[in-house]
Amino acid sequence: MSASETEVRRLTVSDIGRLYADGERIPMLTAYDYPTARILDDVGVPMILVGDSLGQVALGYESTVRVTMDEMLHHTRAVVRGTKRALIVGDMPFLSYASVDEAIENAGRFMQDGGAQAVKVEGGVRSARIVESLVKSGVPVMGHIGWTPQSQHGMGGKVRVQGKSRDAARSLLSDAVAIQEAGAFSIVLELVPEQLAAVITSRLRIPTIGIGAGPHCSGQVQVIPDMLGLGDFRPKHARAYADLQGTIAEATRAWMADVAAGAFPGAAETVRMDEAVLEEALGRHADDRAAEEIPLGIPLDRDL
Ligand code: KIV
Repeated sequence: MSASETEVRRLTVSDIGRLYADGERIPMLTAYDYPTARILDDVGVPMILVGDSLGQVALGYESTVRVTMDEMLHHTRAVVRGTKRALIVGDMPFLSYASVDEAIENAGRFMQDGGAQAVKVEGGVRSARIVESLVKSGVPVMGHIGWTPQSQHGMGGKVRVQGKSRDAARSLLSDAVAIQEAGAFSIVLELVPEQLAAVITSRLRIPTIGIGAGPHCSGQVQVIPDMLGLGDFRPKHARAYADLQGTIAEATRAWMADVAAGAFPGAAETVRMDEAVLEEALGRHADDRAAEEIPLGIPLDRDL
């Protein structure tokens, strides 16, 4: 194998399309910081979403509506710096794509300033024109339909599964097709009944990435603190593969106990210097013994 064949390169939306065409289930995780992004990239997660879930899981806001473009860019840059291979999707925050002009300007910031390779936009039929304009401007777009957290205030505020009635199911199907026809390269289905998600997936020719939408989507996305067991609330659709909250709490208690007992830092975590040099610095070297004591305190350059 030549060096160029083994060279790590950034995945593109065409690579995601290839995974889909090959029938591989596509995993995507959220990340908001450099160290987490580095780990996900090292283990081969092909797509990382810098989700506006940032607001709740990393910044402590009560909803994603509070998240700003500047905050999204700050975290996107960190995630991009931590990755070499994964395709990074920047999540357009609330009102950052209210008009075509704002959408193009802010998507441009995600790609030029943030270093993302694609953006995600919430909404079906209502966002199709925005998606189309972005795609025509050269911005790869991931759609997001079903439960769309940015519209929560207009959707009754309560997080709930979407598309359960006949009309709601039909309208979700139209949303999915509208976003595909607008040129999106994939689409997140959030909180959709599994049968409806399966039908949408089978009718589209772009990958669906599910969250709370059952196993029949083309791929799955999870909000990383939910998957790692870090955080005070885990939604029903998430499975914790670790207990990082417990691990962090246990490690912190052990460290505090060591500090209290004087057991941290130990020899392994401590630097020593040459004793002779220290002796010299303190004027205790044989040559210095006869010399004047080194004055302590701040030398004054004038008489009082
Ligand atoms: O912001 C986010 O993390 C998301 C996922 C839930 C898809 O939009």
